[in-house]
Amino acid sequence: MFKSKISGIGKHVPENVITNFDLEKMMDTSNEWIIERTGIRERRFVTQPTGAADLALPACLNAIQNAEIQNTDIDLIIVATTTPEHSFPGTSSFLQALLGLPGVPTLDIRVQCSGFIYGLSIADQFIKTGQYRNILLVGVEVQSVGLNLTTEGRDTAVLFGDGAGAVIVSRSEDESQIYSTHLFGDGRFAKELWIDAPICDRSPRITQEMIAEGRIYPKMNGRQVFKHAITRFPEVIKLALDANSISMNDIALVIPHQANQRITEAVAQRLEISPEKVYSNIHRYGNTTGASIPLAMYDALSEKRFKKGDRIILAAFGSGFTWASALIKW
Ligand code: COA
Repeated sequence: MFKSKISGIGKHVPENVITNFDLEKMMDTSNEWIIERTGIRERRFVTQPTGAADLALPACLNAIQNAEIQNTDIDLIIVATTTPEHSFPGTSSFLQALLGLPGVPTLDIRVQCSGFIYGLSIADQFIKTGQYRNILLVGVEVQSVGLNLTTEGRDTAVLFGDGAGAVIVSRSEDESQIYSTHLFGDGRFAKELWIDAPICDRSPRITQEMIAEGRIYPKMNGRQVFKHAITRFPEVIKLALDANSISMNDIALVIPHQANQRITEAVAQRLEISPEKVYSNIHRYGNTTGASIPLAMYDALSEKRFKKGDRIILAAFGSGFTWASALIKW
């Protein structure tokens, strides 16, 4: 068995900043309400038309450069997204074409906010078995174009933003490594945070009625999501520690999916760790679903919140419900 590590990281967010004050002009909400309930001050929205692969490309090129490899060294492309440009094929096919890598296998994974850690786990297995040497994994979301930016959709519209974060997962020949990944799901809660339509079990898949009823927009049972998130996050973080027989003192930083600042604070409290040990950049980007963990890793690294040789924990919870963690030595 080989060891795997993250050998490069990149990010890309749209230039277009949407503040809470901008949202106040579109719906009945307020900067105070959004900050108090979510910690979000601004997010990025693409200028249309931009597909997930378009947004992912600069982050991928950034990661490839950071890993000091060439495009042609990539053996597999994995994309974690909730917002692919089409029903099929997946965003990874469009991205592969943009990267100019015909023949390289492409894989989209659809586990929403947990997508990046699921992707990391898949990449980890392929590297460990020796099948591949360098895997491109990108979390990317173009969520703004699918939000109901009116008062009717305000409970979800204020949460989400667009962005992309990419990593290269490579065979490790030094101390850096992915120690473990743990993945979970519970489909009994699939409709607690979801988009109903288009519905693929009937024809036509989408009707004027579905559009008029707002079934094309995200629907969320916010309290149910909150309740489960603050249980599952600490659980899966503790599991990462226990599985590696280490304690929180051995961890430089916990990087959770940026769901909501109140969730992050509740998780820190339940784990009895100082808020400084749990990274947050949600004030800048909102909840970017599959992109949030690599974006947070990138920013935390730039802010020198962890360095080579440090152990970090990644953790996610989201729609599905799905949840996951990873313990990494950077
Ligand atoms: N601006 C102003 N008011 C809003 C609003 C907004 N953007 N969104 C909802 N409200 C209103 C509601 O309509 C409700 O009004 P009512 O009392 O007149 O019915 C009121 O605010 C309170 O709503 P409630 O649902 O009780 O708020 P809450 O305290 O539960 O907070 C969330 C709502 C969404 C912030 C909270 O449930 C939460 O954090 N859930 C987790 C969501 C999340 O992180 N999702 C992503 C997971 S990946």
